[in-house]
Amino acid sequence: MAKTTSSHRRYREDMSEMPDWMKQKKCPNRHKYLAGRRILPKNLTGKEKLTDIIDNAFLAYNSARLRESCQLFTEKMLEPDVTIGMSLSGALTPAGLGCSSIVPLIKAGFVDWIVSTGAILYHDMHFALNYPVHSGSFKMDDTELRDNDIVRVYDVLLGYSDCLMATDEILRNIIVQPEFQKEMGTAELHHLLGKYAAEWERKAKLKDVSVLAAAYRAGVPCYTSSPGDSTIGMNVAGVELRGNKLRLNPAIDVNETTAFVLAAKRSGGKSGVFLWGGGSPKNFMLQTEPQIQEVLRIKEFGQDYFLQVTDARPDTGGLSGATPSEAVSWGKVDPDRLPDAVVCYTDTTIAMPLLTHYALARHKPRKLRRLYDQRGAMMEALTKEYFAHNKVTMLDGSHPKFA
Ligand SMILES: NC(=O)c1ccc[n+]([C@@H]2O[C@H](COP(=O)([O-])OP(=O)(O)OC[C@H]3O[C@@H](n4cnc5c(N)ncnc54)[C@H](O)[C@@H]3O)[C@@H](O)[C@H]2O)c1
Repeated sequence: MAKTTSSHRRYREDMSEMPDWMKQKKCPNRHKYLAGRRILPKNLTGKEKLTDIIDNAFLAYNSARLRESCQLFTEKMLEPDVTIGMSLSGALTPAGLGCSSIVPLIKAGFVDWIVSTGAILYHDMHFALNYPVHSGSFKMDDTELRDNDIVRVYDVLLGYSDCLMATDEILRNIIVQPEFQKEMGTAELHHLLGKYAAEWERKAKLKDVSVLAAAYRAGVPCYTSSPGDSTIGMNVAGVELRGNKLRLNPAIDVNETTAFVLAAKRSGGKSGVFLWGGGSPKNFMLQTEPQIQEVLRIKEFGQDYFLQVTDARPDTGGLSGATPSEAVSWGKVDPDRLPDAVVCYTDTTIAMPLLTHYALARHKPRKLRRLYDQRGAMMEALTKEYFAHNKVTMLDGSHPKFA
């Protein structure tokens, strides 16, 4: 990084043509504002490491926010005492981001719990099943694609019968199995599906292509905020018409995710959220703190780290674009931690591989927290604290029983 030496520096007062009133003007805080790094990057040569380009050439506007995201994640959020929730929306798995980025992040212990759209997890199954997803073009004729049994996600193409409908058929055959015949939360649903996905990967001699399989192996609980709103939910509804007994209970998901955040805080550690895109997964992840404070009336202060990559603007009032400072007013983010909040306005398909590379290059893997296996204990701790903070009994007047 080039430095300005004192012999090269010119002061306002030394400029001969400057009028006296300007020379005499007092600017007591000027040095504070100009204390930031000087923008004078080295010429790129083609020999740099990607991490060095991010550190040294991503200097302004959204590239600077991307650098700050990489640095916040790697230098602060990946500390061993931080529990990290990651929300996923947008068409990430069809774009290959499950294989390239989300699976490596899970394997490295860089994400402890996930809230995803059902669509991301549904399309993840094509990869585990070895059903190809292809690059195409956004300029294609969609009527022609429909006539040729192809569906399109912008510039990604999937077979309708041999990929989508084939996945659906296998999914339906799985969710009618005995282990699915009960009420459960979506973490359990996805864990059970992940077991199958891991087996499909193994049979197809594929390694680490599926988010569901990786999350299953790593004990990362994977929730969906709208269980009915994806082809997984559609197939669950389809077999219910035939008497299937699978019932997804979103209240289980709300309480379990809340228990993770409370457990992180009560262990003396921190809680951080990493939000890819917006949508309902973002809110579902962030509502854990209002659930603690507003509904369960337990004293708490909000998330310690807030990191979002999004295209959504804040001025429409939509949740997808809501800023961390707006989240402070809801108790979602601790106001004292706002300096540790970054919003990067860019496409997640650009940011995710860059950030994943940066984190893997700069930080050693973390021990897997395996929150999936700790759901029971953390739920009990949450329930105990709820009853300790409130003058309430069970609805039948009894007192809750704990193990
Ligand atoms: N076959 C399926 O199962 C299927 C397919 C698509 C969508 N869906 C469902 O539709 C609902 C909508 O999901 P969605 O994820 O498509 O919502 P979405 O694409 O509207 O994404 C939510 C928000 O995230 C942001 N975002 C999306 N892509 C981004 C990108 N590349 N870069 C930066 N920001 C981005 C946008 O601000 C957007 O408003 C979900 O519930 C999903 O399950 C289902």
